[in-house]
Amino acid sequence: MNKKVEEIYSKLGANERAITDKIGNDALKNIFIRIIGVKLKLQWKGWLQYLIPVPIILLLSLLTVFAYFLFGKYFFLFFSAITLVICLKVILDIITVKFKIRFSEPLPKRKDSLTDIELMQIRHSCRSYQTKKLCRKDYEELMLSVKNHLSEPKFSSESIRLEYISAPITVWPTVNASEFLVAIAPKEYNRLAILDVGKTLQKIVIDATRMGLGTCWIGPGADHKSITAQLGNNFNPEKDNIICVCAIGYESKYYPLFIRYFNKKMRSRLTVDSLFFKDYEMNPIPLMQEPFQSFEKVLNACKWAPSSYNGQTTRGIMISNNNNLERIDFVATTTSKYYAAVATGIWTANWEMGCKELGIEGHFKKLNENKYQSTLTQAENNILIYDMSWISLPYEGMKD
Ligand SMILES: Cc1cc2nc3c(=O)[nH]c(=O)nc-3n(C[C@H](O)[C@H](O)[C@H](O)COP(=O)(O)O)c2cc1C
Repeated sequence: MNKKVEEIYSKLGANERAITDKIGNDALKNIFIRIIGVKLKLQWKGWLQYLIPVPIILLLSLLTVFAYFLFGKYFFLFFSAITLVICLKVILDIITVKFKIRFSEPLPKRKDSLTDIELMQIRHSCRSYQTKKLCRKDYEELMLSVKNHLSEPKFSSESIRLEYISAPITVWPTVNASEFLVAIAPKEYNRLAILDVGKTLQKIVIDATRMGLGTCWIGPGADHKSITAQLGNNFNPEKDNIICVCAIGYESKYYPLFIRYFNKKMRSRLTVDSLFFKDYEMNPIPLMQEPFQSFEKVLNACKWAPSSYNGQTTRGIMISNNNNLERIDFVATTTSKYYAAVATGIWTANWEMGCKELGIEGHFKKLNENKYQSTLTQAENNILIYDMSWISLPYEGMKD
């Protein structure tokens, strides 16, 4: 490997490195690394979102030529038309989104008439923003939400912070975001503090959704150098760890082709019966029976929780007794130290808000290791990382 290729290789993420390492031939490996180098450059300079359709356009152009010679005029016209439409859309995206030459858009309407559960279901990742900054009233309401949710009881004794930034930090693939909340936990790893980040930020996200604002959680797609540069003295590399950021602003109707496709693809979800189980043998819950039926809306609220690249890494084990829910254990299905813990934290927020709306009482509790392990004997072959339990109020038997 020459110096340049080595430099690019050192910057690759775990997935890209794994693919690269599988290539046996050195020359091919070098070419592959250089291609990824170009991709990374375009990605962090904010061009990749627009240029991803270009290889498709090239392929379609080739097909158009083949169609002309092999199948005649009508196929040629068909492929030409598709290629032209995609070309025009890419050019239009660059003009309207990258260069922001476009008509002004109205501010989105507030959603005060929706319940929390409805808000949790309609919340989606907003990946294209209007150029307007939050108006003073919206900014103040948002900061009040930050203050309120940060002051709620936390799982961890270590404190977390949310810093507001008003600057276009480098993120992927979201475009034109210029206001962010940066979630910061202590440098020393503390899983409960990461859960707190998920729970606290999700409650703020739901408040923002009620205000009609667009939000997008950004973890792996955030360039930490550009964040710390903006945070300045508000970030201490000795003590602080940036967990993720959340872009906040007014959603734009101008969406680049690739991001439109990405948003749609990421909107699917596993079904409730693949997310919730009645025991650690992972037997499905009989959703039509009590106590599960009473929780159906809450389970759906958890189902629609966001997770990094839609990994949906959280599961709920609902332990019941005589038609009563004793507790639910929230567990993670991957060993990811950060994003799986954030995802569980988000579930706990949705669970709490959902139960509150339905008037179901209970409280969170981290069970001690012995109690938990005695119920985990069947999970040997699955990765299940126990994070938190929610104990139903009427259940008295759980004393540890
Ligand atoms: C911890 C976390 C990190 C995320 N990181 C990114 C990211 O880097 N870039 C991005 O575009 N979306 C990111 N997302 C958003 C998810 O991709 C999104 O929530 C998921 O695909 C579901 O789509 P939805 O939010 O539209 O329902 C992240 C979400 C979470 C919870």
